[in-house]
Amino acid sequence: MEPPPDERTGYQYKREPGQLKRTRMGFLDPTPDVVSLSVLPRDDYGFVDWSKAIGIGIISPRDSIPGAEAPAEPLQTPPDVLIRSKLDFMPDVIFPHSSHTVWLKCGVCHPKIFEEKAGATPISMIGIWKGEFCGRCHDRVAFPIRNCFRCHSAPRDAKK
Ligand code: HEC
Ligand code: HEC
Ligand code: HEC
Repeated sequence: MEPPPDERTGYQYKREPGQLKRTRMGFLDPTPDVVSLSVLPRDDYGFVDWSKAIGIGIISPRDSIPGAEAPAEPLQTPPDVLIRSKLDFMPDVIFPHSSHTVWLKCGVCHPKIFEEKAGATPISMIGIWKGEFCGRCHDRVAFPIRNCFRCHSAPRDAKK
């Protein structure tokens, strides 16, 4: 049996979310699903960039655990939401739905954390620091708050 992917030289990861691993011949690859930290992409702060890891196909999380109820049909992903900055010196925030819906169901965020209407939730940075809004996950299970410009990513001229 071949060694796990990250011990093979030149192994090309390119899985779609939910897809199983395949050998070079296109057969199902039964080797352990191991990805060492050293092959995972990093963000500017040196933390693993999980969104990129899915994007380039290194990991492909499953929708359910074996034996569990099959997940519901995937819904169409809503578009990104531009959240205007209340203060001029900070760039606006782009909330990317697609990066979240590969991991999370709509009901994780709607309607308890965020209203399903752009601008309807009074999101504040203080709240985020205290672990509300985006801070329910960021700084806990998702990339940390001190990586300001990964959220405040809208160029200034995108304003008005
Ligand atoms: C997880 C995403 C995220 C990260 C990381 C983040 N912010 Fe924010 N921030 C927001 C959102 C959403 C808002 C609300 C919309 C707005 O006012 O810009 C906000 C608002 C703000 C505001 C406007 C005033 C307020 O209280 O709402 C300031 C200033 C700010 N952030 C500064 C920062 C700084 C400095 C950092 C890094 C230390 C940072 N932010 C990191 C998402 C984030
Ligand atoms: C990680 C949290 C999260 C998840 C998961 C999530 N959303 Fe959202 N959604 C948001 C945020 C944040 C906003 C913007 C709220 C604001 O601007 O006040 C938003 C806004 C929306 C809006 C309003 C867009 C607009 O332009 O008015 C719709 C519709 C929406 N979401 C639908 C969905 C659906 C359908 C799903 C599941 C496929 C989903 N969302 C999953 C956080 C999430
Ligand atoms: C319910 C949990 C949850 C909430 C709430 C949440 N996020 Fe996330 N977010 C995640 C996870 C999980 C990831 C993927 C792992 C990572 O990048 O660390 C992620 C990734 C991201 C990314 C990286 C996208 C990419 O493609 O590189 C951005 C930007 C982001 N979130 C912004 C926000 C903003 C802004 C808010 C609040 C308006 C928010 N998130 C609220 C869980 C959440």
